[in-house]
Amino acid sequence: MQPKTPSQSFTTVTDMVLPSETNPLNNLFGGELLARMDRAASIAARRHSRRIVVTASVNHVAFNRMVPLGSVVTIEAQVTRAFKTSMEVYMDVWVEDRESGERTKANEAIYSFVAVDDTGQPIAVAPINPESELEKERYDAALRRKQLSLVLAGKMKATDATELKALFAE
Ligand SMILES: CC(C)(COP(=O)(O)OP(=O)(O)OC[C@H]1O[C@@H](n2cnc3c(N)ncnc32)[C@H](O)[C@@H]1OP(=O)(O)O)[C@@H](O)C(=O)NCCC(=O)NCCS
Repeated sequence: MQPKTPSQSFTTVTDMVLPSETNPLNNLFGGELLARMDRAASIAARRHSRRIVVTASVNHVAFNRMVPLGSVVTIEAQVTRAFKTSMEVYMDVWVEDRESGERTKANEAIYSFVAVDDTGQPIAVAPINPESELEKERYDAALRRKQLSLVLAGKMKATDATELKALFAE
C-alpha cells in the first residue's frame, strides 16, 4: 500500500459551546469535548484509511484550560502514525478570542483507531510518511504510546514493551 502523509488526513472541526454543553461553572463539559474530539479524530482516521474506523482507545487527554460558554472551539486532528490496522490520531484544540480572533491552545488529545471491514474485523491501512519536524517527532513517539496503551489494556506484557523499557533505560 502506498504511504500517505499526515496532512492527507488533516481534519478541522469548528463549533461553538452552547448552554446544554456546559458544567455548573458555565464551561464546556469534559465529556462533550471528548465526544467532539472522537468525531474529529474518526474523520481523520477515515480519511487516512478510507475504511470504517472504530475507536480503540483514548490514550491521552489534557484539559489544560476551561472553555467558556459561547466560545468558538476548533479541533485539528491528523493521523500521526499508522501501524498494521491501527492508527494514532493527534488532536490540538483551540479556542478563539471573540474580539481579537486570536487562537489559544486549550487542550490536546491522542486517540487510537482501528480500520475494520464490514464485519468489524481489523483490516490493514497504508503506512504514514511524516514530513515536518513536528510530524516526525509525533511519529517517533507514537510507538511508545501504542505500547503503553496496550500494556494498560492488558494486551501486551510490560516486558515486551521495548520502547517503554528504552525510555526508562535512558
Ligand atoms: C478495536 C478492536 C477492533 C480491536 O480488536 P482486537 O480483537 O483487539 O484486534 P487485534 O488484536 O487484531 O488488534 C487490532 C489493532 O488494534 C490495536 N489495539 C487493540 N487495542 C488497542 C489499545 N487499547 N490501544 C491501542 N491499540 C490497540 C492492536 O494493537 C492492533 O493494531 P495493529 O494491527 O496496528 O498492530 C476491537 O476491540 C473492537 O471492535 N472494539 C470496539 C470498538 C468500538 O466499538 N469503539 C467505540 C466504543 S463506544
